[in-house]
Amino acid sequence: MVVFESDMFEPSKALSREVVILEGSRSDLSVVEKIMLKRALDSMKNAYAPYSHYKVGAAVLALRGDRVERIFSGCNVENAAFSPTSCAEVSAIDAAVSNGFRKIKSVLVVTDSKLPEAPCGRCRQKIIELGKNAEVIMASSRNKKILKAKIKDLLPHHFEFF
Ligand code: THU
Repeated sequence: MVVFESDMFEPSKALSREVVILEGSRSDLSVVEKIMLKRALDSMKNAYAPYSHYKVGAAVLALRGDRVERIFSGCNVENAAFSPTSCAEVSAIDAAVSNGFRKIKSVLVVTDSKLPEAPCGRCRQKIIELGKNAEVIMASSRNKKILKAKIKDLLPHHFEFF
């Protein structure tokens, strides 16, 4: 049986104890991360978002084998029937896998909203499938603020198929 302390009932407190989110700015990014941001911003411009008008770009740093690294990017691609919509992260991850890159080291996601946004739940599951230790970098096209978190922290108890 689990006994909750009274303050555990406040969701924000429970969350802040478990999830480590680092806050910084674009100048804190490494050279590779800066290239990822540029690629994600370029892809974001191609977003097909006639319904939500919410543009998202993503860049994935992926590995083929243990040594060959490459960046793949993608944008959100919406659909009139809504559910066939692809998130930007999915477009980028699927491009990586389609080219033989099956390990994800990090994912950068950029939106045109005021603040950096975290990937949706489905994208978190998609990231952790290929990157158990992946880092998630969140950026906004409108300001220099950057957030960083481990995918493990963003998606505890992910689904695995045995
Ligand atoms: N979207 C993404 O591309 N990534 C996410 O992690 C969350 C949402 C897209 C899907 C849709 O085109 C738009 O944002 C609004 O939900």
